[in-house]
Amino acid sequence: MDLRAQYAEIGAEIHEAVRKVLDSQQFVLGKEGAALEGEIAELCAVRHGIGVASGTDALILALRAAGVAPGEEVILPPFTFVATASAVSALGAKPVFADIDCNTFNVHPEEIAKRITARTRAILVVHLYGLSADMDPIRDIANRHGIPVVEDNAQALGARYKGKPTGAYGHTACISFYPTKNLGAYGDAGMIVTDSAELDSRLRTLRNHGQASRYSSVEPGWNSRLDEIQAAILRVKLRYLRDWESARRAHAAQYSILLGPVREVKTPQTPEGLEHVFHQYTIRVPRRNELQKYLSDRKIGNAVYYPVPLHLQPIYASLGHRPGAFPEAERAAEEVLSLPMFPELKAEQIERVAEAIARFFAA
Ligand SMILES: Cc1ncc(COP(=O)(O)O)c(C=O)c1O
Repeated sequence: MDLRAQYAEIGAEIHEAVRKVLDSQQFVLGKEGAALEGEIAELCAVRHGIGVASGTDALILALRAAGVAPGEEVILPPFTFVATASAVSALGAKPVFADIDCNTFNVHPEEIAKRITARTRAILVVHLYGLSADMDPIRDIANRHGIPVVEDNAQALGARYKGKPTGAYGHTACISFYPTKNLGAYGDAGMIVTDSAELDSRLRTLRNHGQASRYSSVEPGWNSRLDEIQAAILRVKLRYLRDWESARRAHAAQYSILLGPVREVKTPQTPEGLEHVFHQYTIRVPRRNELQKYLSDRKIGNAVYYPVPLHLQPIYASLGHRPGAFPEAERAAEEVLSLPMFPELKAEQIERVAEAIARFFAA
């Protein structure tokens, strides 16, 4: 990931947008934030967007608005960034893990169905690496049990599932604008989107000290608002998002063609009817740690998202899960490797990465 090339391209527009905010001297809950909320909601094909301070806060507030309270359960995959689960823990609720589908890295609907209990308060679905989870069966299960679905759409803004964007399927969906995300701010920022006017109003209250109107708090809330400078920067970048997405898809296609003949490499698959936005281009390989070292020694960027599934991390030791509890998540954690992926990547760079991988397995 290299953000400098993008900044060189759009720096002048960013400076102008930031200058306008500085001139306005309005920094929190102003015009830029409101405009961005509308634009992101439209991108997700829903009516409301609520800007917050980070993707993590978006998750905490969305789960709270879904009614998650201490002692209740939220079902989620163990193969994700820790924030997905720690948002559940922050509300005093219990993360209940459901294993992933080995082909998509996303939560397996049947595994969700097995874990529903009388205490299940929400299903928290992650669209990992830029690919939507299998939302139709997940929504069927949720509807059958009357349980809300919250989408962790931190990594897949702009992706599509059967004709509709991610973010349009859950009761709420949570977006991260962390700088390295496909749409990244120049600091922390996040948003919740929803089609429900009622949830919109509740979330606006929750993000602003529980105030339903000025100096009238109706419940304990947070100070979690997206500031005007970040909103203005994001609005500039949003104009480029589709182009950047196309570039990412083209890079992914090139990687997959070049790596196709390398028998040991399993390239990412996009199920029929879905559109991947390749936040990450993630392969599965045997001898992953050796390959990782081989690439790093040759100054080829790479990363493992995520080396330890959440049920085996110290934070969740008290849940008592043993190795083997979620075999697909554990196998993925041993085999995944994400390769360089950002819009400005050059064809020659992709060739160099693919050649190095081919050479490693030919040796
Ligand atoms: C899947 C997932 N969930 C949640 C988050 C948290 O977002 P943030 O860093 O904006 O708090 C991230 C990214 O950092 C993420 O990748």
